[in-house]
Amino acid sequence: MAASFVDNGGTVCDVGCDHGKLALYLIQRGKAKHVIATDINRQPLQKAIDLFASYDLSHTADFLLTDGLQGVENTADITHVVIAGLGGHTMEQVIESAPFVKEQKTRLVLLPAQSGYRVRKYLYTHGFEIEKEQIVSEKGKYYSCISAVYTGKMHTPDIYEIYIGKSDACTGPDATGYFEMLLSQLEKKRAGFRHDNGTENTELEAAIEKIRKLL
Ligand SMILES: C[S@@+](CC[C@H](N)C(=O)[O-])C[C@H]1O[C@@H](n2cnc3c(N)ncnc32)[C@H](O)[C@@H]1O
Repeated sequence: MAASFVDNGGTVCDVGCDHGKLALYLIQRGKAKHVIATDINRQPLQKAIDLFASYDLSHTADFLLTDGLQGVENTADITHVVIAGLGGHTMEQVIESAPFVKEQKTRLVLLPAQSGYRVRKYLYTHGFEIEKEQIVSEKGKYYSCISAVYTGKMHTPDIYEIYIGKSDACTGPDATGYFEMLLSQLEKKRAGFRHDNGTENTELEAAIEKIRKLL
């Protein structure tokens, strides 16, 4: 899914590349001319190195054993940073530690394994625009893949934007599953709020109502 958000890529950074399958796919499909594949752990990075070697494509990639984007040179030909399968908090740290993402308006393709709401909140409040989202499911779990770019416009999002973002343009069974999952999370949050405060949280109520209408 993350790959479908990469088009006409120059150099694409794949952060947390693991086995390297996504990076390889980007090269094979012509979605990237070159990839920089990073992983914080030696074993997965070695798998990615071996995978590229087995396809005789080692010349199309650089491999870096590093945390996030640390050590990645700030070159103008980096068009996309893809971060898939990491948690929302780690994604924030990776983006914050790479100023070139803002300076060069590098497109971000983010598929959080959890805490997608956290990623959206970070993006909105740090000057990134969410361009589009696509919901996917794997092994009964639902995720949203987010495409974002830095515009410098800060925005304080409400609860609906944090939890749904641009995913409300998605339709189909995966979208329904995703919205149901979020609804259940927010209903639990509402019960906790009512218990602690004895009142309603109007913003939360409004978000729940809007999500119900998506189903
Ligand atoms: C669940 S896998 C995701 C694999 C791949 N991106 C995908 O979507 O198929 C997470 C990978 O990220 C790596 N990782 C975790 N934290 C990282 C960080 N801060 N910087 C780079 N890699 C990281 C792990 O070693 C692991 O290989």
